[in-house]
Amino acid sequence: MQTKIVKITDENKKEVLEKAANIIKSGGLVVFPTETVYGLGANVFDEKALAKIFSAKGRPSDNPIIVHISDEDQLKELVDTVSEQQKKLINAFWPGPLTIVFEKKKEISDIVSGGLPTIAVRMPSNPIAHELIYLAGVPIAAPSANISGRPSGTTGEHIYDELTGKVDMIIDAGFSDIGVESTVLRINNEQVLILRPGAITKEMLEKILFPLAVIFAKDRRELQFSPGTKYRHYAPKAKLEIISEKMEKRAEVLKEKKLRIGIITTKQNKDSFEKYKPNVFVLGDRNNLEEISQKLYDALRFFDTHPVDIILCESFPKEGLGVAIMDRLDRASM
Ligand code: TXA
Ligand code: MG
Repeated sequence: MQTKIVKITDENKKEVLEKAANIIKSGGLVVFPTETVYGLGANVFDEKALAKIFSAKGRPSDNPIIVHISDEDQLKELVDTVSEQQKKLINAFWPGPLTIVFEKKKEISDIVSGGLPTIAVRMPSNPIAHELIYLAGVPIAAPSANISGRPSGTTGEHIYDELTGKVDMIIDAGFSDIGVESTVLRINNEQVLILRPGAITKEMLEKILFPLAVIFAKDRRELQFSPGTKYRHYAPKAKLEIISEKMEKRAEVLKEKKLRIGIITTKQNKDSFEKYKPNVFVLGDRNNLEEISQKLYDALRFFDTHPVDIILCESFPKEGLGVAIMDRLDRASM
């Protein structure tokens, strides 16, 4: 398949998005930017197009896909009922990086829901994503744009390598703002389960949903509601170790064993790792978790082109956005 790759600008935006919308309408695949990570999109009502998403990504068929909408009317095409709590969340956080799990309409394909009776929906705030969905006139089903098991793509370059030849078009808009995938949540029996942490944090959800309890889904029974979490994820090609203290010491020990070492560190600590250059990636300021999350997958992918035996990465406090950052790092190191 020939892949059309375009860097989107103010000048070509209208033309590019019209072409992309036409591809979606005629059953093709388009990679597009969102505020979290890039998505690999297809018309949610076109089963053939949905099947192509799974083959392009090498994705297991029981892993359901998030559906992206541009306005609340489109939600009615996907679900019959929206609860009071769900309404509160929509008012507070849409458009934005929050995915809500609803009971799905019967007509919605099992390919999207991975056979579950539910459907995960979000309304992205990225204006390019918004415009594309609007012009396509249909909700767009889109997993993250990456080969299954690899870190999500957060720049055009990440995606060229993996998906050229497998999709009809790639819209490159530079770095994603947030850099980690949306928060996914499900409300059941007066309990709010965070199935995947993201930029909408537990604290932000609690403020809106008080007095409802918000908890992170941890055990197997809870996570059966989010099949994606059982697969290996976000993995760089080399082994990854997350280090909470004395990273220099750990690096010394491994160096003595003649291992090639990669370092993921921050502005505050980078001077300690001069001798490991060029295999050093500086994420940004430790005290600015937005900066850290934005560069996280770029850091993991950096070592695809800087081959090492083991990557050591600084750890971050599991608070606020730090929960999502550490969730992805923990999974990448499994
Ligand atoms: O930020 C994001 O959410 C990005 C952008 C493109 O929007 N998308 C994304 O999609 O991360 P994906 O497919 O890589 O991850 C979707 C996650 C998986 O963990 C999947 O299991 C879960 O959402 N999910 C999808 N549908 C679900 C459902 N009906 N019930 C529970 N979890 C669901
Ligand atoms: Mg993904």
